[in-house]
Amino acid sequence: MSITVNYNNMMKYALGDQGITDAELKEHDILAQSAHFQVEAGRGRGMQGWMDSPYDQADVVKEIKASASRIRRKFENFVVLGIGGSALGPIAVFTALKHYYYNELPKKLRKGPRFYVIDNVDPERMNALFDVINVEKTVFNVITKSGATSETMSQYLIIYDMLKQKLGDKAHEHIIATTSENKGNLIKLAKEEGFETFIIPESVGGRFSELSPVGLLPAAVVGIDISKMLKGARDMDRKCKSKYFAKNPALALALLQYISMKHGKNISVMMPYADSLKYIADWYAQLWAESLGKESDKNGNVVNVGQTPVKALGATDQHSQVQLYNEGPFDKVITFLEVGNFRSERVIPQGCENFPNVNFLCGHTLNELMTNELHATRYNLTRRGRANYTIYMDTVDAYHIGALLYLLQMQTAYAGAMLNIDAYNQPGVEGGKDAAYALFGRQGYEAKAEEMRSAKPDSDKYII
Ligand code: PA5
Repeated sequence: MSITVNYNNMMKYALGDQGITDAELKEHDILAQSAHFQVEAGRGRGMQGWMDSPYDQADVVKEIKASASRIRRKFENFVVLGIGGSALGPIAVFTALKHYYYNELPKKLRKGPRFYVIDNVDPERMNALFDVINVEKTVFNVITKSGATSETMSQYLIIYDMLKQKLGDKAHEHIIATTSENKGNLIKLAKEEGFETFIIPESVGGRFSELSPVGLLPAAVVGIDISKMLKGARDMDRKCKSKYFAKNPALALALLQYISMKHGKNISVMMPYADSLKYIADWYAQLWAESLGKESDKNGNVVNVGQTPVKALGATDQHSQVQLYNEGPFDKVITFLEVGNFRSERVIPQGCENFPNVNFLCGHTLNELMTNELHATRYNLTRRGRANYTIYMDTVDAYHIGALLYLLQMQTAYAGAMLNIDAYNQPGVEGGKDAAYALFGRQGYEAKAEEMRSAKPDSDKYII
């Protein structure tokens, strides 16, 4: 395992007054131990089935691999229909582990079907998909744990209608359902229509589901070694066994963020220095925000906690957001994701001999440039008292991605325990869903519709 966590730049030792002291860490040792105890006590229970995902899926993995190899032989396109936790993981893992222009590669090099994730209901995007795929040569993986999410179910309705018109009684062969075993509509539809189905365990919530069939099937279809991903997660789980934060990377990161929140650092930036990891930051933003952003704690006290996640990309965002990080409010913790060895290299050739301020780059590699840019940005931020830590991974491969996802899930679970909140619910999302149902006149939402009708209308005074 070559993932390490370096938090020097969170500490007073490197950061000065903005940093955390050793004494402060020590004061929180009991809190960290208790968070560890709580998370371990819940392992595999309640909504913590995700902690079993690296261990208990041998049969599922076998089925997924068999299904994936059939799909790879038979279909030209694989489309995921899902949203939130049912889409962000597949996007993150695909981007991390496949060729940057995978879909554009000739079939001989690509080896698997083209891969799309449609995680929105923008009609332009949906229609645009039909301009680039032939649905008759496509398999659609409908992923929804609740089996009831409006966005995903509308996509399903559109696609299945289209498939039936084109393929008649063979339409069902083009849909794979990934859903809960008992709840919701999709499982019922799957049984009625005869869709191939993969089950999301009840105890695995959307944003913790990438290492379940939600993420494993899409990954296997594009040729990612899912067994290695799970092995990475298992090895990371072992690294997170200690109750002492100094020996447990996820616990240390959760504690550092917890103390930072108490210091008023309510923004968590994730900034990978690798395009391949760009969507890991997206996935993490959901994990961190939806899990920790809560109004009440477990005792019913109003706490309004959570850090606002911000996604950035090095070196690109050095030319946009980094100015703010250096000179704006001291309200951020920056997580750098550093890659030791990129999977390919590009030398900057000789040229511009008469322009020394360009020529100094010649003979170096883009790899060196990327790494030096990270080190320089990190140095400068630290010098200015800006809290940051680095998760370093030797290389981006299936094993390390599995480990990284698991590390971040553990960090989130520990942080939830430290904040004494339920990291696995999302009551704040429900209000918006109910209002949308009311707008559609859905049965059972009449009271909500009435409440919305009697809400203050927009005043013209504030419309220009
Ligand atoms: O993390 C979560 O639970 C959510 O983001 C869900 O994944 C998202 O709302 C989609 O839900 P479902 O899979 O039920 O369609």
